[in-house]
Amino acid sequence: MADGSVIQEKALRTFCETVLTKLGVPPQDAYVTTDVLVLADLRGIGSHGVARLQRYVTGLKEGYIKPTDHSTIVRETKATALFDGGQSLGQVVGKKAMELAIKKAKETAVGVVTVRNSNHYGIAGYYALMALDHDLIGMSMTNAAPLVVPTFGRTAILGTNPIAITAPTSKETPFVFDMATATVPRGKVEVYNRQGKAMPKGYAVDETGADSTDPARVLNALAKRLGGGLLPLGGAGEEFGGHKGYGLALMVDVLSGVLPGAATGLQVYGDEKRPDVGHFFLAIDPAAFRPLDEFKSDMDRIARELKDSPKAAGQERIYVAGEKSFARMAKYRTEGIPLGPKVVENLQQIGAELGVAWPGA
Ligand SMILES: NC(=O)c1ccc[n+]([C@@H]2O[C@H](COP(=O)([O-])OP(=O)(O)OC[C@H]3O[C@@H](n4cnc5c(N)ncnc54)[C@H](O)[C@@H]3O)[C@@H](O)[C@H]2O)c1
Repeated sequence: MADGSVIQEKALRTFCETVLTKLGVPPQDAYVTTDVLVLADLRGIGSHGVARLQRYVTGLKEGYIKPTDHSTIVRETKATALFDGGQSLGQVVGKKAMELAIKKAKETAVGVVTVRNSNHYGIAGYYALMALDHDLIGMSMTNAAPLVVPTFGRTAILGTNPIAITAPTSKETPFVFDMATATVPRGKVEVYNRQGKAMPKGYAVDETGADSTDPARVLNALAKRLGGGLLPLGGAGEEFGGHKGYGLALMVDVLSGVLPGAATGLQVYGDEKRPDVGHFFLAIDPAAFRPLDEFKSDMDRIARELKDSPKAAGQERIYVAGEKSFARMAKYRTEGIPLGPKVVENLQQIGAELGVAWPGA
């Protein structure tokens, strides 16, 4: 039950699933979509959790997200497949596509599945995590709405295009690396704006292409399409490697946009009422290269080496990607998931419009 803005996982799941089914999503697909959203919250990625339910509600209401699964396989080989997402929910298509990549990796050592004509699929990590249940290496990427400016540019062309990769371990926490290729999400610029604070350099450029510390100016320019936007990972110019973040974002667009024949860059949401998002999924069977137990024990060894290595002054611990999220998941599963007041308010409003009771209300 809801307790202030802390809500138990089960109650949150039931709420989201009921909302989605009210909009015509079949129960099994409402379950999958909710599973991706709630996992984001459980892993501490609140920006991509149930706070995004509104996005899917709007898409379903306006018809550019189809409530039922319209995806089809349009091309297939032993190790590869291409899906047309049929404008279905990105989570539903994404899960199906990763399941197929896993099946192919089990049969042929590697499975590569791409998707075009899809919608926003949530956290890239969800799909890469699926591979761990099968002792496979998993990878997932997606393109997204254009918010990121190329190095030396002043117009947002690329999305925050995330990359996720996972690898199984034996005793240590599995490697789960899941990141956007921009320094920060737009939400972080919005937080600075709400607080009336200057941003650090390296987050975003204004409409002239200058590294800006003024969140209001950046958001205003983006909203009015005057130019400017988020900086790629590494910040402005080449000094701190911004060109490498830019290259990674473009790499994601090559694999998840160009490869499946989905839209790329500006065209992903070129028609806002008809997105054409592309995804990329990869599964690799380590056992095709060496005995699985050797692979996993070497994963343990490198993780331990990293964590046991000397700490920087003032630091007590070195992490391996995914560790903090697994710890948070265990905590939130027992204590409940904290949601900000704005998120709760929005979910209550969605519930009120569709006749779905907010838990604890
Ligand atoms: N669908 C989309 O269009 C879209 C677009 C952008 C981002 N996203 C999602 O947004 C989420 C957030 O991305 P982000 O870049 O803000 O992630 P982040 O910066 O919070 O974390 C990135 C990675 O770093 C790891 N990490 C964190 N602290 C660490 C430390 N001290 N040492 C070692 N590793 C550490 C985390 O485990 C994680 O794997 C991701 O799940 C991503 O898939 C989705």
